[in-house]
Amino acid sequence: MSTPLIEARNVTKTFGGGLFDKSRTVALEDFSFKIDADNPSVTSIVGESGSGKTTLARLLLGLVAPTEGEVLYNGKNLENLSSRDRKQFLRDVQVIFQDPFEVYNPFYRIDHVLDTPIRNFGLAKTEKERKDLINEALEAVGIRPEEILGRFPHELSGGQRQRIMVARSLLLRPKLIIADEPVSMVDASLRATILGSLLRLNREFGISLIYITHDLTTAFQVSEDIMVFYRGSLAEAGDVDQVVRNPEHPYTRLLVGSIPLPDPDMPWEGERAIGRPAGELGEVGEKFCKFTDRCPFAMPMCVQSDPPLYHTHENRVSSCFLYRESPTIPMTEMTSIFRSSNRQGPVQDNVSFDALDAELEVSTESSSSASSNDD
Ligand SMILES: Nc1ncnc2c1ncn2[C@@H]1O[C@H](COP(=O)(O)OP(=O)(O)OP(=O)(O)O)[C@@H](O)[C@H]1O
Ligand code: SF4
Ligand SMILES: [Mg+2]
Repeated sequence: MSTPLIEARNVTKTFGGGLFDKSRTVALEDFSFKIDADNPSVTSIVGESGSGKTTLARLLLGLVAPTEGEVLYNGKNLENLSSRDRKQFLRDVQVIFQDPFEVYNPFYRIDHVLDTPIRNFGLAKTEKERKDLINEALEAVGIRPEEILGRFPHELSGGQRQRIMVARSLLLRPKLIIADEPVSMVDASLRATILGSLLRLNREFGISLIYITHDLTTAFQVSEDIMVFYRGSLAEAGDVDQVVRNPEHPYTRLLVGSIPLPDPDMPWEGERAIGRPAGELGEVGEKFCKFTDRCPFAMPMCVQSDPPLYHTHENRVSSCFLYRESPTIPMTEMTSIFRSSNRQGPVQDNVSFDALDAELEVSTESSSSASSNDD
């Protein structure tokens, strides 16, 4: 494999003071991950609130520095890039955040947000080139330029603002886009359009995507590989179809149990995690599985050490002692089990863009009916 575009190597990020500071939070612990630019991939990161998803995104973007370990861009530590490499990094890796409104300056017309990268990176020599670039990027996200140019941010819908952010990323022809909850603040009806725009960038322009979400349903629909986080640690990872349809780690089983079914013939076999009474498993050691207090399968060994990554199937790993019969795999090799690492050529398309809209609508409807049934 060639040098990865981005690599996190045994990265830990701690916020707060010293070891005995009660406000100290380990947001991400000993995590390794690689993105290969030659093999454009779509990887989802899921986990409940506070599990470290945004922290990982910020580490990969160089917005925060790791407490331990390192993040490399083309094999070079992000913290000491030359100004030339830094400029290329700022082109190669783009981010789309949850709330696009925060990115817009309310006093400038929308054109400004698209013009700025063109100017900063000298992307166009003439006015015609500038216009062509903007038109092409807007077209790729399904927006007609006359719909939005000349208008102010508050005059657009949330969905339009978010799609313009996708178009803006495309202007720079990045190799990787990290999208952190890009659709959690837009109406269900717009979710498919925005996710569809992002996927088109992957399929048509060969851009890798990291899609961060709370929502297993959209992760299942758009990605090829998935990583499930629990309290800053990787619980399970691998082929999205296998992980979501047949979760291994008890935390993933809990997550899957709380989502609606996209396929009526394939019910999600959910179960409520019940945990075990404190002390029943024996004394808690220095290292332990972070899920012990919610895990219905917890065993004495789970409070004595933290589970390594078990390579349970060709395209998946689980950090759980239930799979201790399987061989272990070092965290630094984790992404080698991904489908994207093992295929040649483009993503096997399991997404029909036309169907995505309808599918997301169906799942959103069943989601709301599931929650109203719960009430
Ligand atoms: N700047 C910070 N200072 C202190 N603690 C922080 C900081 N940023 C994140 N944390 C803590 O790190 C942990 C992980 O936060 P992070 O934002 O990465 O979670 P997340 O998975 O993105 O959650 P959400 O789904 O709510 O966005 C949380 O406990 C959070 O409170
Ligand atoms: S290691 Fe033990 S406590 Fe942790 S998820 Fe697996 S069975 Fe549950
Ligand atoms: Mg977050």
